[in-house]
Amino acid sequence: MAEGLRIEGLTAGYAGIAAVRDVSLTVAPGEVVALLGPNGAGKSTTLLSAIGALAPMGGRVLFDGQDITGRTPDAVSRLGLALVPDSRGIFFDLTVRDHFRLAAPKGDKAAVEAMLDRFGALRGLMDRRAGLLSGGEQQMLALAKAFVTKPSVLMVDEMSLGLAPLIVQSLMPIMRRAAEEEGMGILLVEQHIEMALKVADRGIVLNRGAVRFEGPARELLTNRADVEASYMARA
Ligand SMILES: Nc1ncnc2c1ncn2[C@@H]1O[C@H](COP(=O)(O)OP(=O)(O)O)[C@@H](O)[C@H]1O
Ligand SMILES: [Mg+2]
Repeated sequence: MAEGLRIEGLTAGYAGIAAVRDVSLTVAPGEVVALLGPNGAGKSTTLLSAIGALAPMGGRVLFDGQDITGRTPDAVSRLGLALVPDSRGIFFDLTVRDHFRLAAPKGDKAAVEAMLDRFGALRGLMDRRAGLLSGGEQQMLALAKAFVTKPSVLMVDEMSLGLAPLIVQSLMPIMRRAAEEEGMGILLVEQHIEMALKVADRGIVLNRGAVRFEGPARELLTNRADVEASYMARA
């Protein structure tokens, strides 16, 4: 059954030292959730644990009701949970078309067409090497590459990293549309609090490895003082 992503009481970290403790969150189909918080809060650690790149020290990861804790990233992505990492995972020497061939090796033409509908700017760039794309185009490629695998839940880690706010602003509605039209669940890790909350249904603030504040995006937008206070929270 399509229930989306459910993280329950996740504790995870590096070399036996916890970077997140007892973190719980959900992303339902069709829902955009903004995961906010300062640098080092544990946002990427949470995403890497969900995708299976990092073995949790405690807690569970459920996907569509199935316990996927400890599965490999390959197995997890086959189930329909995808991550666009902050490093973007792009090969500079490969063309845009090559990236789609790698992402959807069975040549799902319909999926590529649907994706090009979303990321129209890539249509004219199919034979260009990724290294020659602008920063915004590279981020678009990173997102599009995930879209062609048709995930039911997509996690995007800091897509705005190194991009001009105007470009970020143009990418946000694409996330919203995917949620509304395809029922994709989206977990958006963002530094641009306001831009993220404007397209999100809910917001969660992580700080020092724990959830410090959460609620409907609209409430968080009108309650910026509490959001900002949760950025300062001490352990
Ligand atoms: N590979 C790593 N090895 C050791 N510590 C790490 C590693 N990656 C992140 N950390 C630490 O874990 C904590 C959480 O980091 P991270 O999840 O990357 O935060 P965020 O994504 O919110 O900026 C930080 O204290 C960070 O220094
Ligand atoms: Mg991070």
